[in-house]
Amino acid sequence: MKRKSLIALTLATVMTTGILAGCGSSEKTEVKNKDLKLTIYCGLMEDHMVKVVEEFKAETGIQAEAVRMSSGEILGRLRAEKENPKASVWFGGPADAFIQAKEEALLENYVSPNADKIEDKFKDKEGAWTGIYSGYLGFVSNAKLLKEKGIEAPTSWQDLLKPEFKGQISIANPGSSGTAYSALATIVQLMGEEEGLKYMKALNENVKSYEKSGTAPARLAGQGEVIVGISFLHDGIKYREEGMKDLILTSPKEGTGYEVGSVAMLNGGPDEEAAKQFIDFVLSKKGQELGETVGSYQFLTNTDAKDPALAEELKDTKLIDYDLDWAGKNRSELVEKWNKAIN
Ligand code: F6P
Repeated sequence: MKRKSLIALTLATVMTTGILAGCGSSEKTEVKNKDLKLTIYCGLMEDHMVKVVEEFKAETGIQAEAVRMSSGEILGRLRAEKENPKASVWFGGPADAFIQAKEEALLENYVSPNADKIEDKFKDKEGAWTGIYSGYLGFVSNAKLLKEKGIEAPTSWQDLLKPEFKGQISIANPGSSGTAYSALATIVQLMGEEEGLKYMKALNENVKSYEKSGTAPARLAGQGEVIVGISFLHDGIKYREEGMKDLILTSPKEGTGYEVGSVAMLNGGPDEEAAKQFIDFVLSKKGQELGETVGSYQFLTNTDAKDPALAEELKDTKLIDYDLDWAGKNRSELVEKWNKAIN
């Protein structure tokens, strides 16, 4: 990898101002890392990102900065920066887009020693990407609005097509959001391509807005802007715990898709050594368990890590046998077909 200077990032950033003293990392590691820096493109919630980056900095003494984007945005950024990569790690977001990035040679293989603790189904066999968490798609509804309108919470994908949900459903755009792409790929796997795209067209009639980020639909339901948000269910728990008490969670009886939230080293990124240390950290038990401390309730992939207690309510969700490899390799094509279908 070539070493290149870092540019200032204009989006929400987390920056170190130097090595933090007295924070438990060994002096040896700090000395070894003293000149290392790292730019991370991050696809998970901002508070989760901040927590992990701050702990990483404290533990290693590496200067790190991170910027939050949705999956499709990160992929777009990597393509645009292909000749001159600015970041060295992609942290978080469903693996589907990572698989597409691997196909486009945007990732560099790295098998962390901590990948031993992660089951094969949660990682690329060559080390292009490795899973850090898993989350299940579902419906996050506003119980107060449902009651006011005398409607039951949806318990099937078909329920979302009911006329009473007209203008009352939020989902993100599968082009920008990994969550929404997981939903699109789930529907096509459940129904077949032709029927699946017909379904998405019918659903479009009830959709109030297509959001950029996959967490927004759950939040909008919590705020009473829509009755139902299609999001990962752990995001519904987060918003409920943060005070949106009207939120209730349901999942489709036909089965639902899931994500393998991942981390990867970027091809040609400027800071390979720091990138490896960051990947080792987020695959560790300690790195993974940080999520729960800031209200991120995904299931964890490291077999030594303890799942968040609040994830327990999701454990009996009926899942489909989600074909992640297919979903990743067909991502661009399917998003294009979806665009055509709904326009
Ligand atoms: O951080 C919350 C979360 O739902 C993750 O579990 C998921 O990987 C990510 O957001 C997806 O974000 P988006 O849909 O915006 O790409």
